Amino acid sequence: MSSALIEKVQLLKKQRNAVILAHNYQPGEIQDIADYTGDSLGLSVQAAQTDADVIVFCGVLFMAETAAILSPDKTVLLPDKYAGCPMADMINAQQLQELKNEHPDALVVCYVNSTAAVKALSDYCCTSGNALELVNSLPADREVIFVPDKNLGGFIVERAGREMILWPGYCATHMRILASDIVSAREEHPDAWVLAHPECTPDVRALADQLLSTGQMLQFAKTSGVNEFVIATENGILHSLQKQNPDKRFYPVTEKAVCPNMKKISLEKVAWALEDLRYQITVPEPVCTKAKRSLDRMLAVIPK
Ligand code: 13P
Ligand code: SF4
Repeated sequence: MSSALIEKVQLLKKQRNAVILAHNYQPGEIQDIADYTGDSLGLSVQAAQTDADVIVFCGVLFMAETAAILSPDKTVLLPDKYAGCPMADMINAQQLQELKNEHPDALVVCYVNSTAAVKALSDYCCTSGNALELVNSLPADREVIFVPDKNLGGFIVERAGREMILWPGYCATHMRILASDIVSAREEHPDAWVLAHPECTPDVRALADQLLSTGQMLQFAKTSGVNEFVIATENGILHSLQKQNPDKRFYPVTEKAVCPNMKKISLEKVAWALEDLRYQITVPEPVCTKAKRSLDRMLAVIPK
């Protein structure tokens, strides 16, 4: 069944001149058929550069919106229209405008996990892969508003050593990872390094060996001499980690770290997306042009 479906997807992909982009949290079978699997920064770069006519975005709505903003002449498809990101919906344009009115001289940095309307009101966008470099590049004498993730924001405050005005948003999936999970995992796997995502809570972050975006985790696992890892982020990434490093061992810190929205994409839905060109994601003007400005600034900061 699934091999027939895979063949169907490959055929439709050719007919449509489509590219399949998948986030590292996608189900394994989706990562396996994707042309590119990566973190939010890598996926944005791919979306901006592809010469395909159709981008099938296997991820959540803000990612497909980002692709539509960066490549407005392409057809961008999200195979499940209900695959959203609850964190991105924790601040809306009106709330951000009110915060800006309270701090009229502040620069606004939004995490890419945000709506297009919030990006349009922001000066800069960032991902977890370049947030630190981006904030460090801002003039030291300017106030900075950071939305919507208080955990990624808190991580930047600690690392950059500068205060920022943080919006109290969070990722419910990363909030399920507890400090006690790290303690138990270390007892069970004493030789393993703990890699955690900056969306984790401060007490989890304090117990990790490395705080990394998903792309940086894959890079670190491959290039470091370490052979055992406890992974404190959404469990979909275990698929790529294990596939790329068959001789190394990876343990999820908890089985509860599963993002239900990332798991809404299936092979069937990818085939239907290509067949019927659905669900098309577009971002209307003037939001598209304004949001593109903050996204272009994000793409100008690619860490080495
Ligand atoms: P990255 O893959 O960019 O680290 O993002 C994590 C995330 O939560 C995406 O929804
Ligand atoms: Fe949003 Fe968290 Fe799911 Fe990423 S893992 S899409 S931040 S809810």
